[in-house]
Amino acid sequence: MKSGYKNRTRRSFLRNGMGLLALISLSGPARLFAGGKNKTTMKEGRIMKAAVVWFSQAGHTERNGKLIADTLKKEGLSVVLGDYRDFDRTKLATADLIIMGSPVYYYDVPRNFREWLGRIPGIEGVPVAAYVTFGGEGGNQHNAVCSLAELLQKKGGVLVAMDKFGNMSTYPPTWSMGYDKKVLAYRFLPDENTFAHVRSFAKLSLDNALGKKTISYEKELDFREAIKGTIAMWTGFKLFSGKYSVDKKTCIHCNKCVMKCPTGSIDIHSYSINKDTCIACMGCVNNCPVQAVNMTFMGKRLHGFFDFLKKNRIQIKEPV
Ligand SMILES: Cc1cc2nc3c(=O)[nH]c(=O)nc-3n(C[C@H](O)[C@H](O)[C@H](O)COP(=O)(O)O)c2cc1C
Ligand code: SF4
Ligand code: SF4
Repeated sequence: MKSGYKNRTRRSFLRNGMGLLALISLSGPARLFAGGKNKTTMKEGRIMKAAVVWFSQAGHTERNGKLIADTLKKEGLSVVLGDYRDFDRTKLATADLIIMGSPVYYYDVPRNFREWLGRIPGIEGVPVAAYVTFGGEGGNQHNAVCSLAELLQKKGGVLVAMDKFGNMSTYPPTWSMGYDKKVLAYRFLPDENTFAHVRSFAKLSLDNALGKKTISYEKELDFREAIKGTIAMWTGFKLFSGKYSVDKKTCIHCNKCVMKCPTGSIDIHSYSINKDTCIACMGCVNNCPVQAVNMTFMGKRLHGFFDFLKKNRIQIKEPV
């Protein structure tokens, strides 16, 4: 009796699972989840102070954050800005507009940034805007920016704008496995159009906050969104990667990897990296100036983003 129930449950689970997969593959990205509506009303008062905060490991999200801050300053606002790791979160309490930026890592807002956002003080009624930066196509970017918006709404923020900006991907396994072309197809990004897009996002955020205009969103039905909720996507990387370490002979003790690591997984004195706590963000691999971080993926040694840029004589454009 019990086992029959189990079998039936298993069968119906498989049937439903297959049904869901078929639905996903047939429909492609589609609107799935209702929601994304603001639960709080915007507080009254003038918009004079803004906070622009980001998480960035290879500079793309930071570059856009600085441009957003610069645009708001030109509009007459006083702005506090910075990477969340250097940012005094109590300053959020006095901001009249908050803009947060995150890279998309493994189809989502990286776990360390999500956790920090969960710990910020309440921002009841404050207008908020969210942006993500991403590399390539089809990386669940829409849903990632929705997740960032959702995290801000959970803290009481009232969503006024959201957007996403494309760059060259900073994911080392891609070129280290020989798929250079996939990344090089975007070698001209960011360009002037990207910067114009970023500036208009900053202005729209401000205009909507001033005009008390709010927005809502819907997540898309996408298999990446479905699987990311069941398993941390970076565990896939870990599964196919070898032992992590720092190469004693090459390391010049600049401490960049330690500063970049969001999980405190690197002990440079013993040249060791704790694979259990590492979330495979690639901050160490990408920023080591001498390629001393030893990580492999499917047997291939990983090379950092700046090394890849140098080899291909690419200089990332800065906004002027
Ligand atoms: C560990 C890792 C995972 C990534 N995963 C995705 C992804 O799922 N979807 C995507 O579009 N881009 C992905 N990317 C590309 C980054 O989102 C993109 O290059 C981003 O602009 C990097 O921002 P940053 O320079 O501020 O760190 C990934 C990059 C890294 C390093
Ligand atoms: S050890 Fe490297 S890849 Fe792992 S979390 Fe730290 S910076 Fe990221
Ligand atoms: S970034 Fe590279 S050179 Fe600098 S301390 Fe880390 S491993 Fe050593």
